[in-house]
Amino acid sequence: MNQQAPSDLTLIEPTLTKYADVPGSLIAILQATQDVYGYLPMDVMEHIAQRTNTPIATIVGVATFYAQFRLEPVGKYLIMLCQGTACHVNGSELISSAITDELGIEDGQTTEDGLFSLKHVACLGCCSLSPVMMINGKTYGSLTPDKARKVLRGLAEQDAKEGEQA
Ligand code: FES
Repeated sequence: MNQQAPSDLTLIEPTLTKYADVPGSLIAILQATQDVYGYLPMDVMEHIAQRTNTPIATIVGVATFYAQFRLEPVGKYLIMLCQGTACHVNGSELISSAITDELGIEDGQTTEDGLFSLKHVACLGCCSLSPVMMINGKTYGSLTPDKARKVLRGLAEQDAKEGEQA
């Protein structure tokens, strides 16, 4: 799992200045936090607890209760691997193993460099292309383990090139 650097707490300051003393605003604060950081980092939740005078257990309880909140960062590329019936019959398990082997992550995890997250999902609605994965809105169909690996390597290379140009 990721070893996260401390979060920049100043980013959430405007929200806390506005809402810290407003009763019933915890969900709004957590939504704003997720908008800013992309998920709910633990150190930011601790900071919110202090500033709003709310027990940390209450904040974590709310954060884990609502499906909209993420407690882990999502990678730059979110791989949604279909586990629907057609994809399953056509070998999605093999694709899943290839991704895990290539990236070292399983369902629900993110690579240490923050580049890829893997999420198993239900039918993506393009069963004729099974097995299918979707990455950041783009569909990759008729996958084989080899093809899936090539897609991932291509994205990693593309990212490295973007890094050089930046
Ligand atoms: S079962 Fe995978 S797209 Fe429908």
